[in-house]
Amino acid sequence: MNAKQAAAYKAVGHIKDRMIVGLGTGSTAYWAIQYLAEKVKQGLQVTAVATSAETEKIALQCGITIVALDTVDHIDMDIDGADEIDDRMNLVKGGGGALLREKIVAAASREFIVIAGNNKRVDVLGKFPLPVEIIPFGWQHTARQLALLGCGTSLREKDAKIFITDSGNYILDCHFDSIPEPAVLEQRINNIPGVVDNGLFVKMATRVILGCDDGTVKEFSDMQ
Ligand code: A5P
Repeated sequence: MNAKQAAAYKAVGHIKDRMIVGLGTGSTAYWAIQYLAEKVKQGLQVTAVATSAETEKIALQCGITIVALDTVDHIDMDIDGADEIDDRMNLVKGGGGALLREKIVAAASREFIVIAGNNKRVDVLGKFPLPVEIIPFGWQHTARQLALLGCGTSLREKDAKIFITDSGNYILDCHFDSIPEPAVLEQRINNIPGVVDNGLFVKMATRVILGCDDGTVKEFSDMQ
């Protein structure tokens, strides 16, 4: 078991019968979906909400029941990856472009378990470019406003075309290098017209599970 698999396996162990589960997006969440599917085949009953079209497809293919977020009052446990995690359990997310739905699902969840390889742990967020979801209308103006916050911006592309999110928006990857005050920056970015949301997840994670290359995990409800 590699680091991602080990973290995902441990997280799935927290899922109990009849829970409503949030399924994250990305290569670590992928393993959580696979391990959950194994448990479902063994009889575990869960209802799941997907954080992206990609995750919905993977989950359905392996036999997990997916429902729309608005058909449930709340989510019991959301399991998702991260691009960076600081020691206050604040996150940068959105490397896979699913940050908006990921944040909505995390906000609707009673427990939000973050799973990642140990290498995602950082002292200060910001080395990983911060993804910001923006609406296409006037996007270059939005990009200029973002740059005034002290970052370089690049419009995300995939296969030589502009990357379009599941909600029909663009992503600007913002190169800050260091984000010492994530709560402040999250709000400042979201105050810019044209911004839908950004990949800073502040005080949302309730548990972090970090996998190591030897297959062991470290689990935290407080990392300080
Ligand atoms: C998807 O949009 C992201 O938020 C992912 O959760 C994040 O990029 C981590 O992905 P990996 O597990 O693939 O590293």
